[in-house]
Parts: sequence; C-alpha cells; structure tokens
Amino acid sequence: QTSPMLADGTKIADLVLPATREVQMRVLSDPEIYELEMERIFGKIWNFLGHESEIPNSGDFVVRDMGSDQVIISRDKAGEVHVMLNVCPHRGMRVSVLDGGNTQIHKCIYHGWAFRPNGDFIGAPVEKECMHGKMMCKEELGLKKARVTLYGGLIFATWNIEGPSFEDFLGDAKWYYDMLFKRSDRGLEVLGPPQRFVVRANWKAAGEQSAADGFHTLTLHRWLGEVGNYAKKNEDGTSADLSPEMYGVEISSPHGHALRCIDLARKISRLTGLDPKELSVQQKLDALPPAGMHKDMVEQLARNLSPEQLQVLTTMPPQVGGIFPNVLFGFVYIPQPDGSVLGSLTLHAYVPRGPDKLEFVNWILAEKDAPQELRERILKQTIQLFGTSGMVEQDDSDTWPHITLSAKGAMGKKQTLKYQAVYETGAPEGWPGPGMVNEGFTKDDTQWHWWMYWRELMTSEV
Ligand code: FES
Ligand code: FE
Repeated sequence: QTSPMLADGTKIADLVLPATREVQMRVLSDPEIYELEMERIFGKIWNFLGHESEIPNSGDFVVRDMGSDQVIISRDKAGEVHVMLNVCPHRGMRVSVLDGGNTQIHKCIYHGWAFRPNGDFIGAPVEKECMHGKMMCKEELGLKKARVTLYGGLIFATWNIEGPSFEDFLGDAKWYYDMLFKRSDRGLEVLGPPQRFVVRANWKAAGEQSAADGFHTLTLHRWLGEVGNYAKKNEDGTSADLSPEMYGVEISSPHGHALRCIDLARKISRLTGLDPKELSVQQKLDALPPAGMHKDMVEQLARNLSPEQLQVLTTMPPQVGGIFPNVLFGFVYIPQPDGSVLGSLTLHAYVPRGPDKLEFVNWILAEKDAPQELRERILKQTIQLFGTSGMVEQDDSDTWPHITLSAKGAMGKKQTLKYQAVYETGAPEGWPGPGMVNEGFTKDDTQWHWWMYWRELMTSEV
C-alpha cells in the first residue's frame, strides 16, 4: 500500500510543487526517498537493460542492474530473451557472479542449484538426499522472471507483470522513437560492450537532465563552440554562437519521456548551397542521411516510416532526449573539419546505486547495414565525445556530484529546484507528430513533465 508521507511528516506530493514549478532539493539526497523510488519507480516501470545484439547466441548472457536488483539477461535455445532476478531461491546467493558469458546451465557456486537460460530450475547436486521437493515442486524453484519486451532490439523489462504494456508506457513518444530505433530493415546493433563508470551523484540529477535539457549546452559545454576539430565556427573562423542550436521543437510525454528535435536547415544549406525549403525529401536525404545511416541505406526509410515521419526526420529530427526515468539517447550530427557531417549514436542508462551514487552505462550503436568504415568512424567519434572517455559528458558528470552534495546541506536541502522557463508557443504549424509539442528556444517544460511523472509514480499505489 502507499504511504503518502515521509517519516518526518512531509507529504510526498509536496516534494514537487506544480503551482510554482519547484522541486524540493532533498529529493536528490534523501535515503528514504531513494528507497521508495526503488519500489515505486524502478520496481514498476519498464527498465532499459541493454540491446539484444549483446547476446546474439543461444546461452549468451549479461548481468545488469534493474533498479536495486541485479538481473541476468539471457537468450535461450529458441532465441527468446529472458530477464530474471540474479538471486538464488535456495539461500539468496548471486547465481551469476560474472558480467556476462555463455552457458546453458547457470549453476550457483554456493550449493550448486542449477537453472536454464530461461530461469527454470534444473536440479541440485545429490538432489535425492538434499532437495526432496517435499514442500515445493520443481516449477516453483526457478529464478524469478521479469516481463520482457524488445523494442527495435532494445531490451526492456518490468516486475509489473500485469501492468501497462510497453507501448502504453511509451505512448505518443513512440512515433518519434520509431524514427531512431525502427527506421531501417535490419535495425541497430551495439559496437562492443557498454562503457561503465560510477559517478558520485543521485541518479535523478542525470535523469532529469536526460529529459532533453538543452539550455545547459550554452554554458557547461560552451567549449563546443570554441575548441578542437568539432568546434562550430563562423565563416570567418571565429567561434560560433551556440544559441541558434537551441531553437527547435521539444516534445514531452505524460510518462516523462522527452526529446529535442533540432533544425537541420542550416546544415543542409551549408552542404548543398541551397535553401532546404526548395528541396524534396529525397534531395535532403541524399545531402544529409539521418545520423548514423549510410547514403545507400536511405531507401529503407520509406519502407519503415510514414511520410509524416520522413518529413520530420529530414527537417527537424529528434537528436537528444530520454526514456523515463534514466535513459538518454543521442542521435547527433557532428560537423567534421572537412565540412562533412558524421552521425553519432549513443544510449546511456544512469543506473541508481544508492542515494548518492549512479553507474553511467554507455552503449554505442550502429546500423547493422552500415559499412565497416562508417561503423569505425561512429565508434571512434562517439567514444571521443560521449560517455566514460568522452569530452562532452565529463562536463555533465562533474556537475551531478556537486548538485548531490548541495542537496545534502542542512540549508541546501531546504532549497528548491526551479523550472520557470515555460513554453507558450505550442507546435509549429502543420507539425504532424503527436505529444505535448512546443517550438522555439529550449525551455524547462520537458524536464518539468519528467518530475510530474516522478510525482505521479511516487504517490500512486504500488
Ligand atoms: Fe544457491 Fe544454495 S544459495 S544453491
Ligand atoms: Fe550535457
């Protein structure tokens, strides 16, 4: 059942204040709130765990965290992907103590109970003597199984067996995510295992930023306009103002998902010397294929997407955003020193590891059909820019620990986070996509809607 109050009498609903769009800072450090999140959010929603291309063969498995629990993600002989709790039903030992591997038998190192890749109990050593099965039959002795969905190869799982479908969870955002994850015939795959590193920060400092915070780019990542090969330069070689990049279309979802669609017009006109308004969809695709796609692949788009999705993909495509609560995607167009543009595809999960610790997991993706040379360039450039070793997100992962420490201060925890920049524009005329859509300079709306869904989950029945 739901507790509407914290131990000190604070109503959970009052942690997020809709009248003034404020959030109590204590939510970023309070252990009691963290424990509730593990049950009410991560115990309930669809959790992103990885990509099926990480476990291509029968018996392949990886071990990941799903909220505060560890799970085994494995592929069985029939090719099905399973997600099950990595907790032995005998005495609670972790059944797998590895990060991943291949086996048809997951055998617990403590007393040797053994399980199939689908979690079913196989047997135990000297079973006749020690595991009579007098009280419980074999069917009851397997690993606890989660409900699993594959979406464009992405593996999501939930403990909420009877809860909403994955499609319901994505809602209107699916129309946009399909442009990224379901646009090609054979789909995406990972370029190697994910990078992982620990940041001493509350997961929500990163999670709410993943709800399409564009504003921080101007200050925190200001060097993007100033330094190195990637720097955006004006024609005369001076550093470019980044603020034009902050205009676009932002979409929020009642389920906390969010994305930023950024105008491609300037890139296309630079590449073609023409006004993009004069160009057909095909001409735009030829000039600038979607981030991560080779020009030979663009003919696949019309088979997989609607004409309306193609229109958005070639003018104002989703480039950064998040899947609630802790996933960030970037399908970003990176200007190259030679004037061309390279797409970079990355997915992050900010996995909670305690009130002041998160694990940053970074997958780099490529189209299965992309030529080797393009895959290598995507891998190299994405590693350079994003994730563990990247230049951009060293900035972000430096702020989150400071924010978390601020939220521990006797005075700091009484302060509020403020989401005051409100869109009043609505969707651009003729915008064909669904959702809560606004155009203009980036605002706080998408992150605010993220908090509103956090509040809804934290105050609703478990
Ligand atoms: Fe796993 Fe005993 S705890 S077999
Ligand atoms: Fe950032």
